[in-house]
Amino acid sequence: MSADLSADIIDSADWSALRTAATAAASRAYAPYSGLRVGAAGLTDDGRIIVGANVENASFGLTLCAECSLVSALHGAGPAADQTKDQTKDQTKAASTSLVAVAVVAGDGEPLLPCGRCRQLLLEAGGGALLVDTADGPVELKVLLPAAFTTTDLAERRERET
Ligand code: THU
Repeated sequence: MSADLSADIIDSADWSALRTAATAAASRAYAPYSGLRVGAAGLTDDGRIIVGANVENASFGLTLCAECSLVSALHGAGPAADQTKDQTKDQTKAASTSLVAVAVVAGDGEPLLPCGRCRQLLLEAGGGALLVDTADGPVELKVLLPAAFTTTDLAERRERET
């Protein structure tokens, strides 16, 4: 884990703001079954903070993790208003807004490492260079999810079949 990895991209104030936003989101979680509230906050490449919280269900397997809610909110919000005109209409192209840093916390405000499924979701929302907050400092997502299956793999493997 490298604490100074993010020095040029986001500073300690940004991390503090992300943790605060994630903790506030955790307080709004719907987690009556596990009792574990989780909040996630992501900094977009255009400087906004987007949040998500876990949402559980009586059908336990339907649970949405906080990071899943965050990625959904990212796409629901779309790009910043002044970038809307640049938004591609081509749905086969990558989203124009992506995440550069993410903090995920439990209800006590302490960092929580994303589960495996959420690492994969975050990868598509921010790439391998996405910085993930940990108790030991920021770490790149590609460290948490090495040798990942990506959109590039999908395109290449599909190409082989045609
Ligand atoms: N949870 C998250 O929200 N994110 C994670 O990365 C790990 C787990 C939630 C899902 C469930 O509501 C609760 O934590 C217990 O697993």
